[in-house]
Amino acid sequence: MNIRDILALGKVVPVIVINKEQDALPMAEALLAGGVKTMEITLRTEAGLKAINKLSQSLPEMIVGAGTVITSDDYKRAVDAGSQFIVSPGFSETLATTAAQNKVPFLPGIATGSDIVRAMQCGLDTLKFFPAEANGGTPVLSAFKGPFPNIKFCPTGGVNPQNAKDYLQLENVLCVGGSWLTPNNAVSNGDWSAIQDLAVATATLV
Ligand code: 3PG
Repeated sequence: MNIRDILALGKVVPVIVINKEQDALPMAEALLAGGVKTMEITLRTEAGLKAINKLSQSLPEMIVGAGTVITSDDYKRAVDAGSQFIVSPGFSETLATTAAQNKVPFLPGIATGSDIVRAMQCGLDTLKFFPAEANGGTPVLSAFKGPFPNIKFCPTGGVNPQNAKDYLQLENVLCVGGSWLTPNNAVSNGDWSAIQDLAVATATLV
């Protein structure tokens, strides 16, 4: 699957900061039971890579990506752990080169037209708009459509159930990313059915 195939699997990619590796499996099972087939586990915590590794072995139906990938070493570690796609908060030619060598789909973050031009020069056409709300939200994405008609986006950062619909209505938006599907209190209480309910509710966003 390329990055567009992966992002086409659902309208919301949950962005997860995981503190305990053992939460990964019940969390992923709850998301899957609620119809969410992809998840991004960030490398912001020690447990991140271990959780990716665990899920890639125990729940192959879930397409697990690594997020907050900043360096080429992060990229390689994430691929070795079994990540099926890689997300970065930003863009660099170095990361794009590493991505091309590793052949695991890459979704880099961009915030400006200049970032988009640089990503396009590396052959990329699918980008994360980050942080979406802080960078101007839907009006900015609409404005990107004129000069960059073939580029598709996954806006992330400040996207929530209230504004997700506005993003998803844009022609150049494939899906959105957000942390609201795995609230801290539900995770710490092991309330996996609450997470399943939040996953189910994403179907009504479209
Ligand atoms: C993040 O920075 O953690 C992700 O972009 C998710 O942002 P959110 O918490 O605003 O959804």
